Amino acid sequence: MNVLVIGGEGQLGSEIKRLSNSWKDANFAFTSFENLDITQKKQVDAHINGKDYDFCINCAAYTAVDKAEELPDLAREVNVIGVQNIAQACSANDITLIHISSDYVYHNEVNRPILENDPTTPKGVYASTKLQGDFAAKSYNDKTIVIRTSWVYSMHAHNFVKTMLRLGKEKDELNIVYDQIGTPTHAKDIALAIFEIMKYNTQNEPQYGIFNFSNEGVTSWYDFTLEIFRINKVECKVNPILSKQYPTPAQRPSFSVLDKSKIKKTFQLEIPHWKDSLADCLKLLKKFDNIKV
Ligand SMILES: NC(=O)c1ccc[n+]([C@@H]2O[C@H](COP(=O)([O-])OP(=O)(O)OC[C@H]3O[C@@H](n4cnc5c(N)ncnc54)[C@H](OP(=O)(O)O)[C@@H]3O)[C@@H](O)[C@H]2O)c1
Repeated sequence: MNVLVIGGEGQLGSEIKRLSNSWKDANFAFTSFENLDITQKKQVDAHINGKDYDFCINCAAYTAVDKAEELPDLAREVNVIGVQNIAQACSANDITLIHISSDYVYHNEVNRPILENDPTTPKGVYASTKLQGDFAAKSYNDKTIVIRTSWVYSMHAHNFVKTMLRLGKEKDELNIVYDQIGTPTHAKDIALAIFEIMKYNTQNEPQYGIFNFSNEGVTSWYDFTLEIFRINKVECKVNPILSKQYPTPAQRPSFSVLDKSKIKKTFQLEIPHWKDSLADCLKLLKKFDNIKV
């Protein structure tokens, strides 16, 4: 199995790279922003055409949710046109595209775990461009799997867990929102799920479409922070605040728990609880001494 991972230097791309070393049946190639800008069609074609890949995993995206409000054209170039370029190249080369998307595309008021066919009413530039990217991925390549995930963290790059560990050391007290409910997702678990999906589609009738994926369980950013501090024994007081007390340029969904029945049933996946995965990530951070943000 030959696999191309685009965006190999981001959180998820780095985790796929780390874990790919232990999967000997597959040959992985990775691109970084430096050697492949997905907004450049010629570059995308040069990396994909005639290279005999079976799968292409797109982890590249414009992910600065608030900055996207100031830079909508750039966000659209990367999250829509970039994805279109990749999907077209995958289609021309008969490659299965696994494209990563976001829970923010839903932003609806269903107030129960969200299904893949629930309404999508994205608020803000990042969320809207991610939704358009999902459409582009699917409409330009029939063999597309879109994975919508939430609250991603890992031992790599910048993320909420590493920021909280830094702030927990620097400050005596933190104010964290408690009226946004969702599920944190360890990038390691997304990477492992993608490996299972590729194995499944190679050995069985291949399945395509949109799938939700996060860790199991439900929490708020406030409770997530408490758990990070509890496990790492960080002595910092955490105060629950409302989102309106911490205004951001882009609006976040207040309830964004994903229903994962479809992905679990289709690909026979087991998904760890967010608390177990958080403990695992904190162990990895210690082991690799990757605590700096
Ligand atoms: N992080 C989350 O909480 C979260 C939640 C839900 C869904 N997602 C989705 O999950 C996926 C992976 O997220 P992540 O957290 O791994 O993101 P990330 O760490 O920001 O990685 C994205 C990568 O894409 C690169 N990139 C940006 N523009 C590019 C371009 N034009 N061409 C090629 N590469 C480009 C970035 O490079 P630079 O860093 O140099 O800009 C970065 O290495 C994304 O699709 C994201 O939308 C993330």
